[in-house]
Amino acid sequence: MSAPSAAWPCPAPAGPEPGFVYRGRWALITGASMGIGEAFARALAARGMNVILCARSAGRLQSLAREIADAHGVQAHAVAADLARPGEAARAWREAAALGPIHLLVNNAGFGLRGRFEGLAADRQAEMVALNCTAVLELAHLALGEMRPRATGGVINVASIVAFQPVPLMATYAATKAFVLSLTESLAEENRGSGVRVLALCPGPTPSGFQAVAGTNVQQGQPGYLLPGQVVDAALRALDAGEVRVVPGAVNRAAAVLGRLLPLGVATRIARVINEKRG
Ligand SMILES: NC(=O)c1ccc[n+]([C@@H]2O[C@H](COP(=O)([O-])OP(=O)(O)OC[C@H]3O[C@@H](n4cnc5c(N)ncnc54)[C@H](OP(=O)(O)O)[C@@H]3O)[C@@H](O)[C@H]2O)c1
Repeated sequence: MSAPSAAWPCPAPAGPEPGFVYRGRWALITGASMGIGEAFARALAARGMNVILCARSAGRLQSLAREIADAHGVQAHAVAADLARPGEAARAWREAAALGPIHLLVNNAGFGLRGRFEGLAADRQAEMVALNCTAVLELAHLALGEMRPRATGGVINVASIVAFQPVPLMATYAATKAFVLSLTESLAEENRGSGVRVLALCPGPTPSGFQAVAGTNVQQGQPGYLLPGQVVDAALRALDAGEVRVVPGAVNRAAAVLGRLLPLGVATRIARVINEKRG
């Protein structure tokens, strides 16, 4: 394990391309029906990418795809899938890849739950692990299997600021995001110099559908607050620069560094107190 202080900033391997190539290539974005995923879809289409939008809400995806195609003159398709269900990630990938080689995978679909571990339904927490971890792993596996031989492409896995330390009262959610961050940083190193970029995006508080599902809240002006479009801008700048990890926002970067620098027990207790106050 590298020392936390040495991990910031985290420049990565420069690939053969100076910036990431977007125009005319295909991107698959999971969780694209709203929030950060929708912002990714709009930003990538604005860069000339053809986008494949994946989530459960077929109707919302189809209208968004039509709107994006009209606004940016790109191809936009909807692939409806419940990625928490076994086999659905592979089916969604096959459907998407039939449109053309996927050059960028944005593994963004995910949800959180706030509350005491034993008070949250176990099957709902298992569903969170299936979506936040298993589907991310399966899609990244399929993507890298196709991108490596082509020696070009990118994978963005959406982790979170909570990935850097344990978070009582969001225990399973923080654990899923720690999995995503660790997996992504390992994959970035495995793919160093291959032409394929792998990036972990670790957003802080961002207003979206997340809060209603998780039972949390976010307020404009709170430390670390950024809009989905600002989070996505930071992610695409990091992808262009070939970075391995990006934490959008100075306050969030400071929190992430503290989460790793403080003694683990202290950082965990602080997170518990903050979460108790929020409740
Ligand atoms: N917002 C924040 O403060 C924040 C902070 C850090 C990290 N994140 C992470 O950012 C990512 C995006 O979250 P968000 O804030 O944009 O939340 P959001 O607005 O609730 O969006 C979540 C997306 O995931 C989709 N989704 C949910 N369950 C799904 C399933 N079983 N199969 C397929 N798609 C599913 C949703 O669409 P459908 O309901 O149509 O399926 C939606 O498009 C998540 O991984 C989240 O953990 C968010």
